[in-house]
Amino acid sequence: MKGLIRLRKTVEPSDLDRVKEITSSTGVFNDEEVAVACELLEECLQKAEKSGYFFIFAYWNTEVAGYVCYGPIMGTDHRFYLNWIAVHKQYQEKGVGKCLLKAAEEDMRLRGAKKIFVETSSRTVYHRARRLYLRNGYKLDACVKDFYSKDDDRLIFSHTIFPDQPLSV
Ligand SMILES: CC(C)(COP(=O)(O)OP(=O)(O)OC[C@H]1O[C@@H](n2cnc3c(N)ncnc32)[C@H](O)[C@@H]1OP(=O)(O)O)[C@@H](O)C(=O)NCCC(=O)NCCS
Repeated sequence: MKGLIRLRKTVEPSDLDRVKEITSSTGVFNDEEVAVACELLEECLQKAEKSGYFFIFAYWNTEVAGYVCYGPIMGTDHRFYLNWIAVHKQYQEKGVGKCLLKAAEEDMRLRGAKKIFVETSSRTVYHRARRLYLRNGYKLDACVKDFYSKDDDRLIFSHTIFPDQPLSV
């Protein structure tokens, strides 16, 4: 099944519509978050690497099934932030998310990343994201109570990169 997944590291204007479709399909992001996801891509389309955002898209057969967005955290010692990862509802639970995560980690490692941070919400709808991080070597560093709203905590995970250990993607 994994052989059906193909990755692309370039961005194309047509990705804007697809990012909107993918993020909306998941049912976990509100309209404002979907708009922010598109803004990050617009920034990358306009400024390329100078935007500070990198994207990887995953195809399931011929369709873009999901994507990941990441970049360096300015002013830190080679810390990177995984801004966004989403797989279209239709293609979830097929290994696309894990494949994207591993590809992003490998690219960050090649760009000198020493540590990756990612955050998500404690809400039940984010259980798939939490599971993805925890099963792939991320540890929960912090929980900021009621950060997003009452009973909706901000969970911060991190993953240490070892420079001499390329990941198999
Ligand atoms: C979190 C998210 C990106 C995970 O993507 P995904 O493609 O469903 O993830 P994967 O398929 O790689 O892994 C999920 C499970 O499917 C399983 N799986 C992998 N390949 C499979 C296959 N061929 N058949 C069945 N199951 C499979 C994996 O084993 C994994 O289960 P495990 O954790 O028990 O090992 C996705 O659920 C999503 O888009 N969620 C909404 C957005 C979100 O919350 N984003 C993060 C916050 S910004």
